[in-house]
Amino acid sequence: MFLLLVSGAQSQRTPFDAREATIGSIHHSLFSGLNSCQDVVSSFLARIEKLNFHVNAIITLDKNALCEAVILDEQLGIGNATQSLFCIPILLKDNYDTADMPTTGGNLALAQSQPLIDAPSVSALRRAGAIVLGKTNLHELALEGLSVSSLGAQTVNPYDSTRTPGGSSGGSGAAIAASFAVFATGTDTVNSLRSPASANSLFSIRPTRGLISRTGVIPISYKQDALGPIARTIEDVAAALTVMADVGFDPSDNTTALIPPSSVGVNYLASLRAFPLETLRLGLITTFFNRTAGSETTPVSSAMDNMVMRLRAAGVTVVPITSSIYNSSAILAVYDTQRYEYQESMDAYLSQPSLGGSHPSSLKELYAANSSKGGGKFLVIPSQYEYVTTSLASSPANSTYSTVQCGIRNLTLALQETFRQNDLDALIYPEQINLVVKIGWPSQSGRNGILAAVTGSPVVTIPVGFSNATTSALVGVPIGMELLGQPWSEQKLLNIARAIEMLGTVRIAPRWANEIVEVGNMTRVPVLYPNTGNIPKQYPVGVL
Ligand SMILES: *[C@@H]1O[C@H](CO)[C@@H](O)[C@H](O)[C@H]1NC(C)=O
Ligand SMILES: *[C@@H]1O[C@H](CO)[C@@H](O)[C@H](O)[C@H]1NC(C)=O
Ligand SMILES: *[C@@H]1O[C@H](CO)[C@@H](O)[C@H](O)[C@H]1NC(C)=O
Ligand SMILES: *[C@@H]1O[C@H](CO)[C@@H](O)[C@H](O)[C@H]1NC(C)=O
Ligand SMILES: *[C@@H]1O[C@H](CO)[C@@H](O)[C@H](O)[C@H]1NC(C)=O
Ligand SMILES: *[C@@H]1O[C@H](CO)[C@@H](O)[C@H](O)[C@H]1NC(C)=O
Ligand SMILES: *[C@@H]1O[C@H](CO)[C@@H](O)[C@H](O)[C@H]1NC(C)=O
Repeated sequence: MFLLLVSGAQSQRTPFDAREATIGSIHHSLFSGLNSCQDVVSSFLARIEKLNFHVNAIITLDKNALCEAVILDEQLGIGNATQSLFCIPILLKDNYDTADMPTTGGNLALAQSQPLIDAPSVSALRRAGAIVLGKTNLHELALEGLSVSSLGAQTVNPYDSTRTPGGSSGGSGAAIAASFAVFATGTDTVNSLRSPASANSLFSIRPTRGLISRTGVIPISYKQDALGPIARTIEDVAAALTVMADVGFDPSDNTTALIPPSSVGVNYLASLRAFPLETLRLGLITTFFNRTAGSETTPVSSAMDNMVMRLRAAGVTVVPITSSIYNSSAILAVYDTQRYEYQESMDAYLSQPSLGGSHPSSLKELYAANSSKGGGKFLVIPSQYEYVTTSLASSPANSTYSTVQCGIRNLTLALQETFRQNDLDALIYPEQINLVVKIGWPSQSGRNGILAAVTGSPVVTIPVGFSNATTSALVGVPIGMELLGQPWSEQKLLNIARAIEMLGTVRIAPRWANEIVEVGNMTRVPVLYPNTGNIPKQYPVGVL
């Protein structure tokens, strides 16, 4: 029936071109009568159907998407298309609860885990008119940055098929780089919204701790987990953030009690204004680089140097910050709270009454290789499970946990002092000191996300360039910069990012994603099943 409706609508209109589409371009097409919502949604679904094999970014498609488009076309017909995300196709990382699709974390043991209700952030997106096309692959349970999982297999970088897409929200990053949707959601416990943005030439925001309720999202850390969007333009990041933050105070996630009145109900898109660069003061963290020349490091340092040169030329004051407290590996080794909080958070998630379907009911059960429910269906990656093992023996009751909390407070005060002493608007540094790692490497090394993760600071990630082209990376490998602000400075960060975006577009689409996909060839998109054929042999699926 949907096929008939789609082809009926198609015959009257020009096809909708989904490539690099934005909220603005889709609304223009809809409101000027060029396209129906069904045209828009089917054009993205057709791209996924035809092109997903390049990247393996999608775990599940939402069978309701075209039906929702029919309903929105009726609303369009009666002039009632008022919502901010009206008919905007989006994808959700598969750790966000959805009542109409399983929520798996990419883990075989959670393949049948079926939330009975949407996460509040998902409800907010749907209420605002967004159409959820499906769920994206992620690094299994969001525990590493390689974006390989026992259920969804390996997601591939759209710019270089020999590389990972960053992670853990790597399916979201790869899908948005390929224009499979307008934006996608991600989660970030240490790097996971920023690494995929950096590795796929995209923008993202990790908001201040507390701004977006984490309820209904598979957790890792009460202290560090954050939700946010990944998109191709800063305007679309601002629009998505506005809706996701609209959940506001949520009694089920008490960090939302931290939201100050000035950050309640903000429309980040309506207030988006390019920050005047002549008055901007940025701190450049010089210790967040690897200045030893090499094929993986030099492209990153050069792209950053080039961006700093352009910023200075535009009138920005860039202050070098050289303090040795800014050492990512040291901060990660000492202050990371995941191992203390994982078990408690997962137990609460897996045992909640609103989680239906069949699934283990505690972290221990999930990881019990011999349990009938656990099944031993995990990727065996030592780096990923070191702290899972530790977490099964740790909790916030551990005496070292309070020392860690105290250390984080010290680091947070030191960060505030850096801002004050240098009168800074934001700090900048590369998200990753080296290019995103190749498929088969043991971990996504060299990332700088931990500073914001433990201090709860907001970060906007901005594309700054590409490595030189090679035969496997026809336009080069993308490189991204973090822009870290003080708590609740989301609007300022977005405005700075807008000004940087206006210095000149850096983003280039992956070469193969320039293909135009005709909707007429769409067979009728079924629920996709994960490709289990491309897990690198270094990461066997089995018993831990
Ligand atoms: C108009 O749209 C709003 C928001 O989606 C909805 O609540 C309302 O029912 C719609 N009105 C009509 C007449 O369909
Ligand atoms: C907030 O929630 C966390 C985890 O759910 C809990 O450990 C903590 O005690 C709560 N804090 C307050 C102030 O209620
Ligand atoms: C820095 O880069 C060099 C050259 O690429 C490499 O050998 C070294 O391991 C890197 N150091 C770190 C800490 O990543
Ligand atoms: C990239 O290519 C340019 C121009 O050919 C060259 O000057 C530069 O050294 C190359 N950069 C790297 C990292 O190989
Ligand atoms: C950063 O900390 C690590 C220990 O985690 C240490 O090995 C390294 O030397 C430090 N780097 C600098 C530049 O101080
Ligand atoms: C699984 O169960 C078998 C038999 O009860 C036992 O010998 C083995 O050690 C168990 N393996 C793990 C990983 O617990
Ligand atoms: C935090 O800073 C205080 C005061 O400088 C110091 O006494 C304490 O040892 C620090 N704690 C940690 C865990 O770094």
